[in-house]
Amino acid sequence: MSAPGTRLSRALTRAGHLIDPLWHRAVLAVDRAHFIPDTVWITSRDHPGYFEPITRADARFAEWAHQDYALAVQVDDGTPAGGPNGEAGWGRLRTSSISQPSLVVAMLQALDACDGHRVLEIGTGTGYNTALLCHALTERAVVSTEIDPALAAVAVDNLARVGYTPTVLAMDGVGLPVSGVDMGDFHRLIATVAARGSIPHSWVRQVHPGGVIVTPYEAGQAAGVLVRLEVGDDETAHGRIIGPAPFMVLRQHRPDRRPLREIVDETAPGVAAGHTDLNPRVLTYPHQGWQLVLGHLVPDLRHAVYEADPDRPEWAGQASVYVAAPDGSWALAEYTPAGGPFETARHGPDDLWTRIAAAWNTWCTAGRPTTERLGVSVDADGTRLWADTPDHVLRSYGAAPSTVTAG
Ligand SMILES: C[S@@+](CC[C@H](N)C(=O)[O-])C[C@H]1O[C@@H](n2cnc3c(N)ncnc32)[C@H](O)[C@@H]1O
Repeated sequence: MSAPGTRLSRALTRAGHLIDPLWHRAVLAVDRAHFIPDTVWITSRDHPGYFEPITRADARFAEWAHQDYALAVQVDDGTPAGGPNGEAGWGRLRTSSISQPSLVVAMLQALDACDGHRVLEIGTGTGYNTALLCHALTERAVVSTEIDPALAAVAVDNLARVGYTPTVLAMDGVGLPVSGVDMGDFHRLIATVAARGSIPHSWVRQVHPGGVIVTPYEAGQAAGVLVRLEVGDDETAHGRIIGPAPFMVLRQHRPDRRPLREIVDETAPGVAAGHTDLNPRVLTYPHQGWQLVLGHLVPDLRHAVYEADPDRPEWAGQASVYVAAPDGSWALAEYTPAGGPFETARHGPDDLWTRIAAAWNTWCTAGRPTTERLGVSVDADGTRLWADTPDHVLRSYGAAPSTVTAG
């Protein structure tokens, strides 16, 4: 009889993802199907922005267990909001998933854990990654935290069914350590949920000097990346971006999902007209390095681009670019192929085009780094992004305020 993870491990080794024997043995030993609940959610084809429930009765269900797919195992924090026409069980936001196996093994391999290491996991979900950790390092070495108590209970059951009883704590993994819970120090920390904007310093404090933290990280509208940090002996950690990592974000880091039209009111009193020399189309420039620097230096900035009416040849290439920040500040810039300065309107406490222009200057002055050149430092003062070496921190500078021409 073949090992339960044979099909999945074959798929992962053939594709070149699974190369470390420690994790190869773990993938072979643990049956991922045990960690997939009776209902999962997939993106609705007919209704973008909605997730549709699929049950075990669906022929595709059994296949997915052995393939390189992430599957949502919870939507809307366990209370599905319903479909566009009131369909019961449909969801709007994926709030837990069984992660994509190729990403799971990439993260475990980057963790560089070995016999004798104690590991803290943030985001147990239904427990598959926890089971791999237990197989590789023994269940005594593993502590996992899950913010959703119902999911934590499911994970404990799933893990017991495959023979593991690690410590699973139904609690927020950000505010660690919690008084009364003595978890000790860890050699490794793996987050299977993304930190957005800042990586919690509490994670650095949980790990021995010389230890390693592997976490997905995202900022602004940039796609998620994987960060591998090494912990120093002064409660700081530094490390590079080592690859892409699309993940759901920590519950407390969820971005504002309100449509921009609910924030922008061009008729509001106090809207100021002006202009900017920055080409507003840089917001959509699809360079991962730029998008990450922008997301980091102007946190939680959102944008929307409205192209001019394609049936009006005299407007060809023109667009209105809107940006908004969580404090309610918003701004608009009118792009025209004739070039700048570009007309703007702004409202609220923050001068967003000036901040975006400063971020652009910073990124250009640093030599337009790609994500391979970028790294992250975390200490008690927060999270910083750097280019090439930790002493080259990327800070906003060098942009004149956008000019206001009318009140
Ligand atoms: C992508 S899923 C985890 C995948 C899982 N480790 C696996 O092997 O399939 C992310 C999980 O992180 C949990 N989570 C979100 N915010 C959290 C927090 N602050 N502390 C602990 N868990 C959190 C979510 O409830 C969700 O179950």
